[in-house]
Amino acid sequence: MDLDLSGKVAVVTGGSKGIGYAAAHRLASEGAQVVIAARRVSALAEAAAVIADETGHTPETMVVDVAQAADLDRFVTWLKDRFGRVDILINNAGTGTYKPFLEVTDDELEYGMAINFFAQFRLSQRVVPMMIAQGGGSIVNVAGRTAYQTALPPGSTCTGPAKAAELRFTADLADELRPHNIRVNCVVPGVVVTEERFEKWEREAAGNAYDPAAARTRRDKIVKEDGPWGDAWQVADTILYLASDRASYVNGASLLVDGANKKSYTRLLRERE
Ligand SMILES: NC(=O)c1ccc[n+]([C@@H]2O[C@H](COP(=O)([O-])OP(=O)(O)OC[C@H]3O[C@@H](n4cnc5c(N)ncnc54)[C@H](OP(=O)(O)O)[C@@H]3O)[C@@H](O)[C@H]2O)c1
Repeated sequence: MDLDLSGKVAVVTGGSKGIGYAAAHRLASEGAQVVIAARRVSALAEAAAVIADETGHTPETMVVDVAQAADLDRFVTWLKDRFGRVDILINNAGTGTYKPFLEVTDDELEYGMAINFFAQFRLSQRVVPMMIAQGGGSIVNVAGRTAYQTALPPGSTCTGPAKAAELRFTADLADELRPHNIRVNCVVPGVVVTEERFEKWEREAAGNAYDPAAARTRRDKIVKEDGPWGDAWQVADTILYLASDRASYVNGASLLVDGANKKSYTRLLRERE
């Protein structure tokens, strides 16, 4: 499909792995000038090399911790100097802490908001002036199904409300930016088995012990018996659509992408202990 992204500058946070990587790959395939941001230099370089090789479009990379406002300032200053515009912003970086309510620490509570909702708010606030000046743009926030439903056990009181804020933020911002020809939408993934996410779930379920071979066996069994589960490319295709002008009348929407599979992967892992 030609989505006419040629020449557009597309920024993807958390673009070195998982859903963000797949979204960056798709955007590059459509001809966009992609910028991927994450914390680890090696993973960024690796992702950029593969995307360049497979799409013919070389992404730029930037080391950014989206939970740090100063990093976001530095990032947007660089974007202004380097491109002078951002057409597409994919606020994807984020993560969850899943544990019983009474065990959530204050640091975890604050980090949950900082890396999820605050990061999307802050980066959008820094990028939108460029979008207004250039006459439009498209923002896609990546939330998570914990915005709607609990992930019991072990509980999502820390992460669920942060993800729910992203949905509310999306709707509000879309309304406010509509006169500037800027669309804001949100993708709400269910369980998506990315490599690093899978390891995190395994560690959480097994009290931080991680045996890769045993984990793979458990995963294969869960996938076979309780699937189908999503992969990063399926979410990336939804992000790509919402980011593009093909979704020109979709604005302020939060789209659930979970294949109607409502099971909790962590719960299934625990039940197989
Ligand atoms: N996988 C799922 O089942 C699922 C379900 C619902 C929602 N989601 C949401 O989808 C998004 C992507 O998840 P994923 O599963 O694709 O994650 P993933 O496979 O663990 O990849 C996370 C990516 O984000 C980057 N990242 C993490 N913390 C960051 C930070 N503080 N600043 C900048 N970059 C950071 C990572 O690189 P570095 O570590 O090098 O920074 C990596 O590139 C998240 O918002 C997540 O909450 C995922």
